[in-house]
Amino acid sequence: MVKYLVSITVLATVLATVQAQLKGYPPSEKVPDVKSAQVKAWLKEVDLSGAPKIPIAKGIPGDAPKCNKRQLPNECHWTCFDCAADDITVCPRANTWGLTFDDGPTAATPALLDYLKSKHLNATFFLIGSNVAALPKHVQREVAEGHHLASHTWSHTALTTLTNEQIVAEMKWTEKAVLEATGLRLKYMRPPFGDINNRVRYVLKKLGYLVVDWTGDEFDTNDWDPELSDSKKIALMTKSLNKYAAGKRTKGFYMLQHDQSASTVKLAPKLLPLGIARNISFGNVPVCQGDSQPYQAVVKAPVV
Ligand SMILES: *[C@@H]1O[C@H](CO)[C@@H](O)[C@H](O)[C@H]1NC(C)=O
Ligand SMILES: *[C@@H]1O[C@H](CO)[C@@H](O)[C@H](O)[C@H]1NC(C)=O
Ligand SMILES: [Zn+2]
Repeated sequence: MVKYLVSITVLATVLATVQAQLKGYPPSEKVPDVKSAQVKAWLKEVDLSGAPKIPIAKGIPGDAPKCNKRQLPNECHWTCFDCAADDITVCPRANTWGLTFDDGPTAATPALLDYLKSKHLNATFFLIGSNVAALPKHVQREVAEGHHLASHTWSHTALTTLTNEQIVAEMKWTEKAVLEATGLRLKYMRPPFGDINNRVRYVLKKLGYLVVDWTGDEFDTNDWDPELSDSKKIALMTKSLNKYAAGKRTKGFYMLQHDQSASTVKLAPKLLPLGIARNISFGNVPVCQGDSQPYQAVVKAPVV
């Protein structure tokens, strides 16, 4: 009898692992179709008629568009003009490393969760919606272990290269996937490549989103860059953190990190101790912002 019970448990675990892919979502790595019934319904709920008439930028696949020199400064394009408008670019909390990981969930995510758990640290995960639909279990585990979830769009396409309607589709499919997996309606987002202008901001605001960038190049770990060695990445971060630690530390910073692959996840346990060694404390977006309601809605208790 005991043997029998054990095998039932094992079977249930296997099923739970094999199953788990959200159904009825658009293909991954592609901007969702704006003509689908679902996107049409979302578009009816939002009035975009006041959106600034800024032309759609020409894309470079897998990257942000090149900055157009003739772009007007009032377009307020963060990646081209350093103009962040009311985007969040620093962690307002003193002496705090704003811990954020982008582009997950992936097969590499559980190893990062193990590490963060061992250090009792809670991060914000800027999730790619299509990855959430593929690996909802990882996202459920993030919630169960005290992490905060935020949006990084459906397909990770540069948002200034998309129409207003496509931006709605990118955000709402991601929102739906996370809602289905966890019962949480996202409130914070980070634009892929940090690519944003006032037109994109307008649409995001209409959907109820707050934008969180990172604190500029000095706080980009470059963990994503295969052309830079780990020792170079560690040296660059050491320099940035030395400079930060020598200052007044009255505000914190948002660091750019990724759980997109095993190599980015392996770098985290080498970088975070640099902060610990300098007595920098850690927080996620809700901790940095002092936000006790870091979601637009909590629809139901997370299913874990
Ligand atoms: C992380 O989240 C867990 C669960 O919500 C909480 O108990 C813990 O205090 C948090 N840890 C930190 C360092 O904030
Ligand atoms: C470490 O940082 C905390 C604030 O984050 C501060 O209260 C404490 O005094 C610092 N300790 C040292 C040794 O600098
Ligand atoms: Zn990204």
